[in-house]
Amino acid sequence: AVSDEMIALLPKVELHVHLEGTLEPTRIAQLADLAGKELPRPLDRIFETTDLSDFLAFLDWTGRLVTSPDLAGELAYDFAARAARDNTMYAEVIINPTHWGALSLDDLLAGVAAGFDRAQADGLADCRILPSILRQQSEAEAVDLANHLAEHQPHRVVGLSIDGDEAVAGRTAPRFAAAYRIAKDAGLGLTAHAGESSGADGVRDALDLLGVDRLDHGIRAVEDPELVARLVDEGQPLNVCVTSNCRRMYPDVHHHPILELLAAGVNCTINTDDPAPMQCDLNGEFALVADAAGWDLTDTAAATATAIDAAFCDHATKADLR
Ligand code: ADE
Ligand code: ZN
Repeated sequence: AVSDEMIALLPKVELHVHLEGTLEPTRIAQLADLAGKELPRPLDRIFETTDLSDFLAFLDWTGRLVTSPDLAGELAYDFAARAARDNTMYAEVIINPTHWGALSLDDLLAGVAAGFDRAQADGLADCRILPSILRQQSEAEAVDLANHLAEHQPHRVVGLSIDGDEAVAGRTAPRFAAAYRIAKDAGLGLTAHAGESSGADGVRDALDLLGVDRLDHGIRAVEDPELVARLVDEGQPLNVCVTSNCRRMYPDVHHHPILELLAAGVNCTINTDDPAPMQCDLNGEFALVADAAGWDLTDTAAATATAIDAAFCDHATKADLR
């Protein structure tokens, strides 16, 4: 067994966290006040949403409150401070520009990168950016984003992501293959949400049509034993978020696929997804999995080694993290 104290002391890496999902209620209230907007609900119930799509609509509302690159930078800095409290040394942070309706893509990415620069200079986590397509977007919108990233190589951007609700969007991977190809040719890492609101087919599409280097969630691969065998065979990492999934899909960690996936030999990393609304932190997620899976200190440290291997930064940064 590994104690909470040991987990807190271990240096960690996080690969699946949405900046949109890191705003605490007090920050949301302050942003609404600044923008002169009414809260949609009382602050103590601000994160009460009915399902994933309703939650994503809420992220559109909060994102639109951020009306300057400097404000985006403050949120980025706050995340790096939150990460440092978990002893997270390095994080890759998903940012979906469609949620940030008041900022241009350039302003959003520049503001966030400046916040992450200040944070790293202050000794907080080294945070990189994964711009994300929304599942509902068109092929042209996705290609535009990928082309922009390929041409401008924005500071701190290391990969391309896609998120959103696949249960609503349906089978969309064929529509995004071109954008993923452009990002790959530009040297960006590729990740995709799949196997959360989609099943095993969504995971297979992400592998076959998007050519991903790793998967966000991916847990519903467990519904297809052949696919699990393939994930093991190819060493495909899954960025798993237990508390987030247990809010929407499973009663508790003991019914969450991570235990079966780990037992099968799938590479799993531990992540928070949306820590503010999920009221979770990375140390807590590690404790949850370590306890349920019976991890000792070596197993727990190995999860971070898996995350370092799966990270999209350069080899020198990885060597420093190891
Ligand atoms: N955006 C923020 N959190 C998400 C999740 N859990 N699934 C899909 N898109 C998201
Ligand atoms: Zn996510």
